[in-house]
Amino acid sequence: VKMGAFAAVCVVFFTLLISGISRATYQPTWESIDSRPLPEWYDQAKFGIFIHWGVFSVPSFGSEWFWWYWQKEKRQEYVHFMQSNYPPDFQYQDFAQQFTAEFFNAKEWTDIFASSGAKYIVLTTKHHEGFTLWGSKNSWNWNAVDVGPKRDLVDEVATALRENGSLRLGLYHSLFEWFNPLFEQDAANKFTTNYFPTTKTLPELYDLVMKYKPEVLWSDGDGNAPDKYWNSTAFLAWLYNDSPVRDTVVTNDRWGQDCICKHGGYYTCTDRYQPGHLLKHKWENCMTIDSKSWGYRRNAPLSDYLTIEQLVATLVETVSCGGNLLMNIGPTHDGRISPIFEERLRQMGQWLKVNGEAIYNTSAWRVQSETTKMWYTARPQEKTVFAILLDWPDKGWVILNEPVATQGSTKVELLGYGSLQWEPAMASGLNITLPPLSFRQMPCQWAWTLKLTGAS
Ligand SMILES: *[C@@H]1O[C@H](CO)[C@@H](O)[C@H](O)[C@H]1NC(C)=O
Ligand SMILES: *[C@@H]1O[C@H](CO)[C@@H](O)[C@H](O)[C@H]1NC(C)=O
Ligand SMILES: *[C@@H]1O[C@H](CO)[C@@H](O)[C@H](O)[C@H]1NC(C)=O
Ligand SMILES: *[C@@H]1O[C@H](CO)[C@@H](O)[C@H](O)[C@H]1NC(C)=O
Repeated sequence: VKMGAFAAVCVVFFTLLISGISRATYQPTWESIDSRPLPEWYDQAKFGIFIHWGVFSVPSFGSEWFWWYWQKEKRQEYVHFMQSNYPPDFQYQDFAQQFTAEFFNAKEWTDIFASSGAKYIVLTTKHHEGFTLWGSKNSWNWNAVDVGPKRDLVDEVATALRENGSLRLGLYHSLFEWFNPLFEQDAANKFTTNYFPTTKTLPELYDLVMKYKPEVLWSDGDGNAPDKYWNSTAFLAWLYNDSPVRDTVVTNDRWGQDCICKHGGYYTCTDRYQPGHLLKHKWENCMTIDSKSWGYRRNAPLSDYLTIEQLVATLVETVSCGGNLLMNIGPTHDGRISPIFEERLRQMGQWLKVNGEAIYNTSAWRVQSETTKMWYTARPQEKTVFAILLDWPDKGWVILNEPVATQGSTKVELLGYGSLQWEPAMASGLNITLPPLSFRQMPCQWAWTLKLTGAS
């Protein structure tokens, strides 16, 4: 009995020792925070969906920056829109009761998201307007449980997503709020006081993580205040050391003035970031299907929506250069995903069904592209290189100069079709013969993948 107890103590002791060694403890400094390896799932996922939804979805005019452009910048088109359509005493806050979400069905949303081939979503839980899509007690009467839908929208999305199981939950959260008087007070004090982060931003960030356990925390809106003001490194140290999602959570780089593209988790650098070459650090291209707005716009013409050809090309270039694509949609105030967004998402899913092997779990290759119309990805563990062609080569053959191929051992395949013939190209690489396929015989419609096994 005694030996058994001693052995048990030893097992416990060594288990603690080993888990202590494997779990690094992060300090509230950028040096320490930045040293954390990015959880593996994120780089494998490659494709996520961004969702901008809030009170700005009610006017759904111009931009999700509606309130700021109307009241602060007093842009002509916004002022005119309000004068023409609303009584003179109408406040931005009055839009909240029209944020009704009566058609919102989180299961239907999840079905569309899952069908797109995306592996995660990022939902705006609170944009710069300050309205929270969950029942935050720090946002009294300016949240979706008290006003408007009278529902916890974050909870509904999180629950439906988990029931489906094919996507991870990401939450967007704006650090600052345009017109919050406590933020304005701190700003007037040149951020030497921090009433706003201590009573609003930080309690809400902790609340979001504890309640919904997001695996992406997408921070935004530093309000030109330094990260010290936001206490970002202390929050991130807690997130990485002690939070319920410490092992899998991924964050971005928007944690205070001058943090972007420098500190945090993966880099976003700018909206619609597309460097066109390989970056050493993991990055994400956040962009939006409605090229002019993140929030829904009722008056967006078709020509403002990116085509599926443009979206596939963006995904391919992004992944080839080591990035993830976060593609945005803007649901309506009544909770619909408009058919145009739905179509784009489902089309992306159709394309990924055939070509996903060249996207998910791939690494950047030693060369990214030979022309802007073709991009490489690779699975080094399988000695496979993928060349994704954005145009179908009408002449019936295509030259790839960069891959080193060996006759007899290198095999070429068109994904969704089958093997192809190739011969050494004149200078270097391969001359691949393409089959004469009719439109209906094509494995997909918008970009085609040549899979090269046994090439390097
Ligand atoms: C998740 O949604 C997709 C798309 O609708 C569906 O194919 C899949 O079966 C769902 N998974 C579960 C576990 O419900
Ligand atoms: C920052 O957060 C840490 C951890 O919660 C806390 O101990 C510290 O007082 C905070 N600093 C400021 C300036 O609020
Ligand atoms: C990617 O890799 C992960 C972990 O190894 C695995 O669970 C997942 O099925 C892979 N996905 C694809 C599409 O190969
Ligand atoms: C590639 O191969 C095709 C078919 O064999 C041939 O017609 C074409 O001239 C070749 N292209 C080059 C540049 O060698």
